[in-house]
Amino acid sequence: MTTIEAPTRPAADSIGHDRLRRLMARGTAFLGSEVAIMAGAMSWVSERHLVSAMSNAGGFGVIACGAMTPELLDAEIAATKALTARPFGVNLITMHPMLPELIDVAGRHGVGHVVLAGGLPPAGAIDRIKATGAKVICFPPTLAFAKKLIRSGVDALVIEGMEAGGHIGPVSTSVLAQEMLPEIATQLPVFVAGGIGRGEAMAGYLEMGAAGVQLGTRFVCATECIAHPNFKKAFIRASARDAIASVQIDPRLPVIPVRALKNAGGELFTAKQREVARSLDEGQIAMAEAQLQIEHYWAGALRRAVIEGDVEHGSVMAGQSVGMVTREEPLADILNTLVDEGAHALERRAG
Ligand SMILES: Cc1cc2nc3c(=O)[nH]c(=O)nc-3n(C[C@H](O)[C@H](O)[C@H](O)COP(=O)(O)O)c2cc1C
Repeated sequence: MTTIEAPTRPAADSIGHDRLRRLMARGTAFLGSEVAIMAGAMSWVSERHLVSAMSNAGGFGVIACGAMTPELLDAEIAATKALTARPFGVNLITMHPMLPELIDVAGRHGVGHVVLAGGLPPAGAIDRIKATGAKVICFPPTLAFAKKLIRSGVDALVIEGMEAGGHIGPVSTSVLAQEMLPEIATQLPVFVAGGIGRGEAMAGYLEMGAAGVQLGTRFVCATECIAHPNFKKAFIRASARDAIASVQIDPRLPVIPVRALKNAGGELFTAKQREVARSLDEGQIAMAEAQLQIEHYWAGALRRAVIEGDVEHGSVMAGQSVGMVTREEPLADILNTLVDEGAHALERRAG
């Protein structure tokens, strides 16, 4: 009888690990970490504990600033620094009204990497970050944007597909990677995000020219993560098809889709959109304010699920890789599993 052997854990000095180290070299040099795996910032989730655990385990943690005030960000960075001596980054949302002040806070702490999320950076933001000595990382939604950002002086890019949890674009990770990596990966480090649940996929993107990867969903059930037990349980129970994109109900109110586990909160979002669209129609608010209200809605709904544990009415943002999250485990174990899976895949491919 033929038996199929489960992959054994390759030794850290195996051919596969060696190949993985070489493929990640540009990413690890850029991040200052041992492995070129970033834990993408997740609002309410990516605070001092998860971020320091990620960086201490050899990866790269990123604080989610979200809607924090400069004072709160200041405290969060200080607390993270007390928990790790390793590099970590800060994720700032471009539409935050106090973006310049937040950049200055990160600069005063000597944060080495600032990730700008949520749209094209406003004029001056990239230069302001670079003046603090930090490296700038952005998310290009298209190849044209990527080229524009490179011309503006960004130091690295994250290309994120629609399989990801949270706010998403319309194109899948596999297509973005094929379109963008051959064109830009020689110019600067490019990290691939969205739908990565196992190391084999990570190895594939590295072989295509990525400098590293960014995962979010896979790290939510880390023991160190402060998310409410109900939030983690919802992840452990869910399968890929439960992580669905929100639907826009009014063509005049363009909302960026959000991928989250389906629950009663979906209907609350529909009601919120109707309410905001009505205010827009009646001229009570302008488009920018309407969009800001939608973003505040998401921040509140996510907090309700992550912190309060109301996974029925809150927003359980999760990517399609959620089906590969099967238990709560220490962050270092998750990271080691990804590395071993990647190394094993590369060893097999080497023949
Ligand atoms: C619960 C949750 C919250 C998120 N919040 C943010 C955020 O505040 N800023 C951001 O840039 N990305 C955010 N993301 C995206 C992650 O940083 C990361 O890019 C994404 O999760 C990667 O795809 P994956 O979920 O398929 O691993 C969030 C993702 C999740 C699951």
